[in-house]
Amino acid sequence: MTPSLQPHNSAKHPPQIIHNDSLVLQDMLGVGAYGSVYKAYDQVSRQMRAIKCIRTAGLDSRQRAFQGHEAELHSLVSGHPNIATLHEVVEEDDFFYMIMDCGLEGDLFSKITERGGYVGKALAIKSIFGQIASAVLHCHSKGVFHRDLKPENIIMFGDVVKLVDFGLATTEPISSDFGCGSTFYLSPECQGGYVEQVTSFDSAANDVWSLGVILINLVFGRNPWKQACPRDETFSAFVLNNDFLQTILPMSDELNDIIKSVFCLNSKRRLSLPEFARRVQGCTSFTTAGEGSSSSSPRATAAAAGATGAETTPIRFHFGHDALLCNSRDNKAQSQGQDSGVCVELHSVA
Ligand SMILES: Nc1ncnc2c1ncn2[C@@H]1O[C@H](COP(=O)(O)OP(=O)(O)OP(=O)(O)O)[C@@H](O)[C@H]1O
Ligand SMILES: [Mg+2]
Repeated sequence: MTPSLQPHNSAKHPPQIIHNDSLVLQDMLGVGAYGSVYKAYDQVSRQMRAIKCIRTAGLDSRQRAFQGHEAELHSLVSGHPNIATLHEVVEEDDFFYMIMDCGLEGDLFSKITERGGYVGKALAIKSIFGQIASAVLHCHSKGVFHRDLKPENIIMFGDVVKLVDFGLATTEPISSDFGCGSTFYLSPECQGGYVEQVTSFDSAANDVWSLGVILINLVFGRNPWKQACPRDETFSAFVLNNDFLQTILPMSDELNDIIKSVFCLNSKRRLSLPEFARRVQGCTSFTTAGEGSSSSSPRATAAAAGATGAETTPIRFHFGHDALLCNSRDNKAQSQGQDSGVCVELHSVA
């Protein structure tokens, strides 16, 4: 069942951080399905903090426990350089607050879609992907599986990225919470299975699948498909022909080999996270444009995209309503089994 938490209309009613005189609340950083995130200046540490505020008024005890679970798991994995440190958790009046490291440059989604992204920048892609993989490996080593890996949940701190949002995380290595996550990033088994129905799935392998989609986002600035399910034409074409993505994207043979081992329907045969991270670092070229450094021009890669005949889904570099990477915030199939429809177009965050 989808937890029926009320979105907190915080733009109109910014929360008061009553107990904490040291925090001076500033503007809103982001809004998610369940809460809003504000920027605040901490006069004691003299650091900016992000405060995730969730309205708890009207929630039953189970729903309140859900918030506690997010904070508990986030705290368990805090301390890694690529995970936003959770400094404090406050439950007060009608709000639940999580006070953490604050990124002032937005999330990876806005970096990819609005601020140039990483298309053609192999070194930067390796750095960003390596950091994300390191964060997720750390989580897995602590027995925490994120289940909502996507660019919106990765925050920019200059050239460093940090993972946030443990709202859907679990400590169950084998899960049966089908549909838990965001549509574009869901593995087939997390949706019940592609070929045959499954009764449970491996949480670590499910995170690896989402990382595969994130790698495509980084390299090409788009999603490979709307949803990895039988009714998705692109995904079905990929299942029939594992080289299909190479026909619509200017993907190098080397990256294609990695991607095929990540988007493996049998999660037992899917690339492990350490191996996936190692293969990405060792990849000599992600695209057919043969970019080897961070200086390749997006236009050159775009031209290569045209040359490969990507007529149905051309790569575009001017993101707007008709561009190709979608913000999954709007169509989250969040916990659990709720088909929220799909959208292939990119939306800027509302
Ligand atoms: N520590 C942070 N620093 C800067 N921005 C942040 C931080 N944490 C979150 N944000 C911004 O706020 C947005 C919403 O935060 P978060 O994902 O934690 O909320 P959510 O309600 O769980 O969202 P959703 O359910 O849509 O995933 C993020 O996508 C990001 O843009
Ligand atoms: Mg989020």
